[in-house]
Amino acid sequence: MNDHMQIPSALIERLRTAQSITVLTGAGVSAESGVPTFRDAQTGLWARYDPAELASPAAFRANPTLVWQWYAYRRSLVAAAMPNPGHLALADLERRIADFTLITQNVDGLHHRAGSQNVVELHGNLFRYRCFDDNEPVELTTAPPDDPPRCPRCGGLVRPDVVWFGEWLPSAAWRTAVASAERCELFLCIGTSGVVRPAADLPLIARSAGAYTVEINIAPGALDGRLNLHLYAPSGQLLPALMIAAFGAAA
Ligand code: OAD
Repeated sequence: MNDHMQIPSALIERLRTAQSITVLTGAGVSAESGVPTFRDAQTGLWARYDPAELASPAAFRANPTLVWQWYAYRRSLVAAAMPNPGHLALADLERRIADFTLITQNVDGLHHRAGSQNVVELHGNLFRYRCFDDNEPVELTTAPPDDPPRCPRCGGLVRPDVVWFGEWLPSAAWRTAVASAERCELFLCIGTSGVVRPAADLPLIARSAGAYTVEINIAPGALDGRLNLHLYAPSGQLLPALMIAAFGAAA
C-alpha cells in the first residue's frame, strides 16, 4: 500500500466493531467510473454551459429541449459506465454491518448497480422521470433523446426526477438521511465537495451527535479540518484498501 493510503488503526478498529455506519457519497465516488464530477469542466458540445445553469426549473422553463438533451447526454455517459471498486467496497461493507445507510447525492444509480441495497438518493435519479406540472412520476421505457415527452395525465412536459438548484430535497429521503446521521457510530463522507447544502450538513450533524466522522477525498476542500479524520486518496483505491485492512478480504 502507498504511504498516502496508510490507514489509521483507529479507523480500522471502528470499521470492525461498529454496529451502525452511515455513508454520504458525492460525484467523486463515480469519478473513477468515468462519470465527470459536477464541478469538472464539461467536454465537447457542452463545454460552454455551466451545469448550475442547466439544472434549474428556470432553465427548463426557458429551454426545455436544451435541458432535456443535457440530461440525455449525462444518461448516455452513465449507461456506458460501470461501478468501480469504491462502489463495490461500499456494497461489501453494507453486507457486514447490521445498520448501514448509504446516502448519495449522485443521480447515476451506480451504487444500486454495485449491489448496495439501503440507498437514500437525496438528489433523485437520472433514469426516473416526473411531470414538470403535476409533479407525479411518469414511467418511460426509453427516454426520447431530443425533446421532453408529454405527461400522459395533464400534457405537461416530462422532466428528469432529479433535484435542481432552488428545489427542496425529497422530504422522506432527507428525514431518513438525518436520522441515520444522528444514530450512526461511524460516518464516512466520500467524494463530495461539501459545498451543496443541506447534504453538506450531514457529516456535521453526525459529528455533533457523537459519531466518528471521516472524509475521503482526493484533495482538501470545504470539509477540511471539520471532521475527525481526513484521508486524501482516490475512493476507488482507498475503499478497497480499507476493506482489506478491516476485514482481510477484497470485495
Ligand atoms: P462535486 O463535483 O462538487 O465534488 C466532487 C468531489 O469529489 C470533489 O471534492 C473532488 O475533490 C472529489 N473527487 C474527485 N475525484 C475523486 C476520487 N477519485 N475519489 C475521491 N474524491 C474525489 O460533487 P458533489 O459534492 O457530489 O447537486 O456535488 C454535490 C451536488 O452539487 C451534486 O449532487 C449536484 C451539484 O449541484 C444537485 O444536482 C442538486
